[in-house]
Amino acid sequence: MDIDLSKITLRPFNLRDVDDVMLFVGDDQVTRYLRRRTLTSKDEALTFLKDVCNPDHHHWHRSICIDDRSIGFISAFPGSDESMFKAEMSAGVAAEYWSKGIFTQAMKIAVAQVFKDLPHLVRLEGFVDVDNKASQRVLEKVGFRKEGHLKKYSFHKGKLRDCFINSFLSTDLLPSKL
Ligand SMILES: CC(C)(COP(=O)(O)OP(=O)(O)OC[C@H]1O[C@@H](n2cnc3c(N)ncnc32)[C@H](O)[C@@H]1OP(=O)(O)O)[C@@H](O)C(=O)NCCC(=O)NCCS
Repeated sequence: MDIDLSKITLRPFNLRDVDDVMLFVGDDQVTRYLRRRTLTSKDEALTFLKDVCNPDHHHWHRSICIDDRSIGFISAFPGSDESMFKAEMSAGVAAEYWSKGIFTQAMKIAVAQVFKDLPHLVRLEGFVDVDNKASQRVLEKVGFRKEGHLKKYSFHKGKLRDCFINSFLSTDLLPSKL
């Protein structure tokens, strides 16, 4: 199945996305490298949606959509206090849509939009498990800079893991790059 990448859009989530989001928040393949655990019921998916729809917190969450149907998510988590100039990115796409260029396209849109919506940010960070080749490749394609190898940096699903830290600065946001 080829996807017309011009049909990929980002929009805020709404509670009507509940059945669609189960396709990714309910799949161990998608949550494997995420801090989120796999959700197992519609009630848990509704709780997830209420959280990402909450206008009161300062996180940035968008649904990755095709024809307005949710097939993934991208989030930015800005730091607080002296770390408020930077945000950590997190994302996932439903497994049946992998390796079609969808996340690369969505991430390009997201990077530009995050800097527009949160103009105090100067730096986006992506922490990627050393075994997560797809995510490393996407960040490279979008123009993130690999800055280093962090040893035993995260305690993830019961194990200490190494990861790569990647960054994209607001000054990297040139028309030629995106
Ligand atoms: C990471 C993820 C979002 C990528 O989404 P996607 O829509 O498949 O990404 P794209 O199709 O845009 O690009 C994937 C790239 O990785 C490459 N790739 C995929 N699996 C790979 C592997 N095992 N080894 C090397 N490269 C791989 C693809 O070939 C493609 O690169 P190319 O265009 O040069 O061929 C998706 O795999 C996912 O949801 N994974 C689970 C959640 C996750 O890991 N999130 C990131 C946490 S930091």
